[in-house]
Amino acid sequence: MTAQGPVASMDGIGARDGAMMSGFGNHFATEAVAGALPQGRNSPQHAPFGLYAEQFSGTAFTAPRVENRRSWLYRLRPAANHPAFQPYGRDTLIRSGPFDDVPPTPNRLRWNPLPMPSDPVDFVDGLTTYCGNGDPSMAVGVGIHLFAANQSMVRAFSDADGEMLIVPQQGRLRLVTEMGVMMVAPEQVALVPRGLRFRVELPDGAARGYICENYGALFRLPDLGPIGANGLANPRDFETPVAWFEDSDAPCELVQKFCGGLWATTLSHSPFDVVAWHGNLAPSRYDLRRFNTMNSVSYDHPDPSIFTVLTSPTETPGTANCDFVIFPPRWMVAEKTFRPPWFHRNVMSEFMGLIDGAYDAKAEGFLPGGASLHNCMAGHGPDRATYDKAVQANLEPHKIDNGMAFMFESRFPFRPTRFATETPLCQLDYDDCWSGFAKAQLPPR
Ligand SMILES: [Fe+2]
Repeated sequence: MTAQGPVASMDGIGARDGAMMSGFGNHFATEAVAGALPQGRNSPQHAPFGLYAEQFSGTAFTAPRVENRRSWLYRLRPAANHPAFQPYGRDTLIRSGPFDDVPPTPNRLRWNPLPMPSDPVDFVDGLTTYCGNGDPSMAVGVGIHLFAANQSMVRAFSDADGEMLIVPQQGRLRLVTEMGVMMVAPEQVALVPRGLRFRVELPDGAARGYICENYGALFRLPDLGPIGANGLANPRDFETPVAWFEDSDAPCELVQKFCGGLWATTLSHSPFDVVAWHGNLAPSRYDLRRFNTMNSVSYDHPDPSIFTVLTSPTETPGTANCDFVIFPPRWMVAEKTFRPPWFHRNVMSEFMGLIDGAYDAKAEGFLPGGASLHNCMAGHGPDRATYDKAVQANLEPHKIDNGMAFMFESRFPFRPTRFATETPLCQLDYDDCWSGFAKAQLPPR
């Protein structure tokens, strides 16, 4: 992979808010002021314009080259230039591992959408943890948060515990980061590296969505195996913003998540003062509508791994710390087949959300902005209404074209938070959607 110049988005999504660079994990080079990027070395004795050179690493220095992710930032002041962090000191609903505030439940759970706040709430205070697993201090597992906010941030946030995969569901997010600015709309996702400072602005007013906070190995594109060299999420459809900075001497609060706790300090200046950068650790966005969906053209519903956008692997091959999987519009043509997702009990644990439309295994009750959890070995699958419809369906080719659902799937069971188990958003009657199935009738014996 090589450095890329700015490119225009094919569909204009990127063109409205600045130039983007194409590719996943590429080695980019970008400068907001001509001549700001040093040439020929990373840390010259005198960086251009007196800028401060700073390495920003996402993997250990000695990680194998294929895994190694780092960038060099050239900024007005060192990121180190701040007073000590103090405990955040405000009650929030964000939680981190070991996720033990209530006993883990084997029950299937489903939630109505998180309401928009009535009081002024920004992205940081709007973070609400539903479940998670592992522990950020051990670099294992994920935290799953929903957010609902109605105020643009005027401060900055960074997450030392993991990278953030942000899935907006309603309202666009304008992400101002140290490494550039990108607009992210519903049906797009953003990937923000661990520790990168950013603020979330809400150009449409209230916004909400989902976040997978990945404590483990960095998300990457899955191997394609026999699919070949192309398909699923294609690398060039990931977009990274060009360098952008603001030269502001106004104080700015910086909130940091570290080992599960929130901390705050106040900088004397804007943290978004990176004038140029190069490297392969950077924020990106991806439009889920560009996913090249695979499906059966003969019989049976494939395993949902066929819909994997990004994966965070573990040391056990094929057994992910987290997979990000989508259920996009697609043609259903399988013959003599029960076409919706089948009944199953999965060793992996599944947290689902719905961006818009409807999901083909649930006729009702799973709403855009809602969520569901089917933990390790929980029996689940189509609800009764979906089953009855599917077994009677005329199996003509038909297109599922009304929705975008997704799943965060993990090798570790998800442990719901106290909020998630006690909120009235939790549907107490969820189990009922699998009641009332007629008993199969064996021939007389
Ligand atoms: Fe499932």
